[in-house]
Amino acid sequence: MDKLIVEGGQNLSGTVNISGSKNASLPILAAALLTDEPVRISRVPDVSDTNYMLQILSQLGASVERSSGTVRIESPDGISSSASYEQVRKMRASICLLGPMMARMKRCTLPLPGGCVIGDRPVDLHLRAIQALGARVRVKGGNMVIEAPNGLVGTTVDMRGDSGPTVLGTDNLMMAAVLAKGKTVIESAAREPEVVDLANFLNKMGARIEGAGSRTITIHGVEKLHGCEHTVIPDRIEAGTFMVAGTLNVSQGITLNRVCREHMKSISDLLVECGHVVEYNEDGTSVFVKPGERPRSGKILTNPYPGYPTDMQAQMTALFALTPGISVVKDTIFPQRFMHCSELKRMGANIKVDNGTAIITGVEGLSGAPVMASDLRASAALVLAALAAEGTTEIHRLYHIDRGYEMLDDKLELLGAKVKRVPDLEGGPQED
Ligand code: EPZ
Repeated sequence: MDKLIVEGGQNLSGTVNISGSKNASLPILAAALLTDEPVRISRVPDVSDTNYMLQILSQLGASVERSSGTVRIESPDGISSSASYEQVRKMRASICLLGPMMARMKRCTLPLPGGCVIGDRPVDLHLRAIQALGARVRVKGGNMVIEAPNGLVGTTVDMRGDSGPTVLGTDNLMMAAVLAKGKTVIESAAREPEVVDLANFLNKMGARIEGAGSRTITIHGVEKLHGCEHTVIPDRIEAGTFMVAGTLNVSQGITLNRVCREHMKSISDLLVECGHVVEYNEDGTSVFVKPGERPRSGKILTNPYPGYPTDMQAQMTALFALTPGISVVKDTIFPQRFMHCSELKRMGANIKVDNGTAIITGVEGLSGAPVMASDLRASAALVLAALAAEGTTEIHRLYHIDRGYEMLDDKLELLGAKVKRVPDLEGGPQED
């Protein structure tokens, strides 16, 4: 287990290349199960979540080769249709194996996912969808045992849950439907760019999907899918995280390459509203950000895409902690996603959390302290706060960051930050 030691107050400047999207990669890697022909996927970030997915695919019997950012996967007939608790418990997103397994093998056994620190992570919508296509679901020994001996038949499914659309639920239904008999219509579909990237990948494999990116997606089932090549879209949340770094008071301005302006609209708009400088190049693949002269507090109400992403609210909270005035963050998608606030308060932030809402009163400065990472985006928020804080911050349980940020410490060093990854012998502040 590692920890990150950050010397705060170093000026940030320079350029960083954004990696391929973790959240686009995971369902696309799972979709490789839909054909017995090889698929080649580029710009898959080397993070533990994608590596866990590749390990699971290989344990199922697929052949997996990775050379730098490009992955080659071949899933021959006879691959297993069940993933073990040991494999799946490490990564909740392995639920996106459900769709491809059901489409290819008409059965699957997957452990029921546990919860995680950002809140309960139900799969009722995933199960509603696969049952609508004719599958039978049983729960046995902590596993979901799902079977469709007569195959899957297309139908119309409304995927809306109490908290709105579901990203991986939409992905799973799309992947189950591509080889189903007849037409499937997904109502209340998630519109995230990562869903569109998966649809584009599936269409390259020979699927017939229309409307991805809108609330209604139509899939015409086909007999078979073939291999293809694909490059994953840029990671808009990694880009958003670095944009926040570029607007901290220690930043003299930084440039991010390999971004997609269209995917970043709500993130960019909020930074501009808060008085910061955000300038894209002509084709929107590169963006320069720097702190505004008079930064303003802001308000976040997270929403499904194209609304403000829940995956960015923790990072913005770190910026709000140092912004004069009172900022408000309400997470409608994961109302418990405020683990970072107690750690930020250890650094001197003034934050009150109540009933899914954080009220942040900006303070003059933060001071470095030993803090504990708790989930991927909360950990990123602690790194951002540490960059701007006075003194040294030790961030324990770095594995949370390694799940979704490729070479974060190297990229920050390139921008002038003083960060060091060291073994975490004492394990950090005690957890009750
Ligand atoms: C995806 O998770 C992302 N993960 C999450 O990013 C992201 O926070 C989330 O979408 C929301 O944008 C990946 O893409 C791998 P959901 P997902 O199903 O698909 C409820 C990160 O930091 N719900 O869209 O699992 C659910 O509880 C991660 O990179 C049900 O009620 O999220 C939540 O309130 C964290 N029943 C809401 O829907 C279900 O069956 C949205 O969840 C499924 C979900």
